[in-house]
Amino acid sequence: MPQTLATHIQDQDLATLLSAIATACVQIESRIRTAGLSDILGSFGHTNIQGEQQQKLDVFANDCIIAALKPLATVAAIVSEEDDEPIVFTDKPGAKYIAIFDPLDGSSNIDVNVNVGTIVSIQQIEAGETATTLKAGNKQVAALYVVYGPSTILVYTAGSGVHGFTLDPDTTSFVLNWEEMKMPPQGPYYSANEANIADFPPAYQQALAGLRDGTLLGAKYSSRYIGSLVADFHRTLLKGGVFLYPPTAKAPNGKLRLLYEANPLAMIAEQASGAATNGTQRILDIAPTEPHQRTTFIIGSRHEVEAITKLAAGK
Ligand code: AHG
Ligand code: MN
Ligand code: MN
Ligand code: MN
Repeated sequence: MPQTLATHIQDQDLATLLSAIATACVQIESRIRTAGLSDILGSFGHTNIQGEQQQKLDVFANDCIIAALKPLATVAAIVSEEDDEPIVFTDKPGAKYIAIFDPLDGSSNIDVNVNVGTIVSIQQIEAGETATTLKAGNKQVAALYVVYGPSTILVYTAGSGVHGFTLDPDTTSFVLNWEEMKMPPQGPYYSANEANIADFPPAYQQALAGLRDGTLLGAKYSSRYIGSLVADFHRTLLKGGVFLYPPTAKAPNGKLRLLYEANPLAMIAEQASGAATNGTQRILDIAPTEPHQRTTFIIGSRHEVEAITKLAAGK
């Protein structure tokens, strides 16, 4: 009998929560797959708190996940890229989870039929905390992403290794096909938007030059950049290498969001023997101050992350 998410996760409350999110992702996948046949492409006509033109699929994905979480007695609050403020459910005494998510990652790729994804971080309310307490990524109880593509893959960790599932379109359930996924200690690829290279601090320019000419880690790298974080990360998890989004003039603190992009992927990376920093410290140790804060992001195989972080930290 193939293992599903619900049977793979020991803790029943967490299994119910992540299965509900997976079901929402099946709805998102089916809308993406037929995007050209329904009026779901293009912009929604509203600018979100990120200053981005919300895409119709951003809003659709957000609505799907919120609709899946609202009825769950265990979910106390939601933080979403697409909502300015956290959504707190006041009618659920004893609710313990905070679901923090990027409902549709890679929005710029929706209209050109390139991989997009969903990224989720789960925190649990502890004694003395409220449903809006923000906590460092090292407190996450689970992290999950789905990458929608030629096949649709769900990867999660609940702190005991990283496991991957493939969506069976006939049964619309995610079926386990990778257990204990491990990131290679060094990989063949680096992934960065090099259009911004003139903006990158010198240490990052030096690091990229060293990856290209082989002087940083003794091997010459190839470049891959999809422009959807979740797809660039999934390749890095499977093949090894490094993804980096350094500070730029437009995004002096980095572009990617700590709570629902960097933290969940950093938990998955570390559980798969990889690493993730902001150029000076472990992503998972950053104490957040506000829900949509951004961070410089270096994530991938241990050797590359350590070498680039050393340069970036001026060591
Ligand atoms: P989102 O679509 O959720 O707003 O995220 C987009 C992010 C991420 O997916 C990707 O790595 C990055 O934006 C690409 O940024 P650039 O286009 O500046 O390279
Ligand atoms: Mn966005
Ligand atoms: Mn994103
Ligand atoms: Mn998004």
